[in-house]
Amino acid sequence: GSEVARILAELAQMSRPGTATAELDAHAHAEAIRLGAYPSTLGYRGFPASLCTSPNEVACHGIPGPALLSDGDLLSIDLTLWRDGIHADACITIGVGELAPHAARLMEVALDSLNAGMAAVGPGRVVGEIGVATEAAATRGGMRIVDTFRGHGIGTAFHGPPSVPHVPDVMASFRLEPGMVFTIEPILTWGDPAIRTLTDGWTAVTVDGSWCAQFEHTVVVTDDGCRPLTTAAAS
Ligand code: MF3
Ligand code: CO
Ligand code: CO
Repeated sequence: GSEVARILAELAQMSRPGTATAELDAHAHAEAIRLGAYPSTLGYRGFPASLCTSPNEVACHGIPGPALLSDGDLLSIDLTLWRDGIHADACITIGVGELAPHAARLMEVALDSLNAGMAAVGPGRVVGEIGVATEAAATRGGMRIVDTFRGHGIGTAFHGPPSVPHVPDVMASFRLEPGMVFTIEPILTWGDPAIRTLTDGWTAVTVDGSWCAQFEHTVVVTDDGCRPLTTAAAS
């Protein structure tokens, strides 16, 4: 888990104007292999890369390629590694060069939303409380949640139950218990959260071109809350 955080920090350092997203992919792939890990997205349902790179109006599942990053881009980088039989999944959003104020604000509110979601986790609580909290934080910050995409149970499988909403969902009554592991990964936008998928079959963009930001952690439910497994400090 902490290795995911470390590699994401390295990728953030590499993300300067003129960097190709394919360079980020190559670094993530090389680091995974060096660690004896596998980049879970590579070949997952045919996904062609070792991480997702999602700039600006791309909400998620962007495919790294030869396109160069530019000053002012808002880039999400989502990396999942599989090692010793389990997956760890995390995403950060960074500014390339200098961000416009509204993009910087979107990035901040996206991090607030993830933190609010994590604060809603604890034994005996239901998974739907996470969506209430992530959405409230987004609304407080003047942003919207892209509710098409949800968090997910994770462990020996990349995606499993429970499905974790990022907006209120009365159906999300799954009750949390210590030791359960899942992701929280709200995508926020400053505009309309409607999404369409490009003809590559993966890249999810906002219909109106509004920019997006996303932060994700893999978390474990503890006796009194939760602990992120995808931070530098995680064991
Ligand atoms: N890491 C993404 C998630 O948070 C999943 C990416 S699947 C891919 O669940 F195939 F698009 F890579
Ligand atoms: Co992810
Ligand atoms: Co995920």
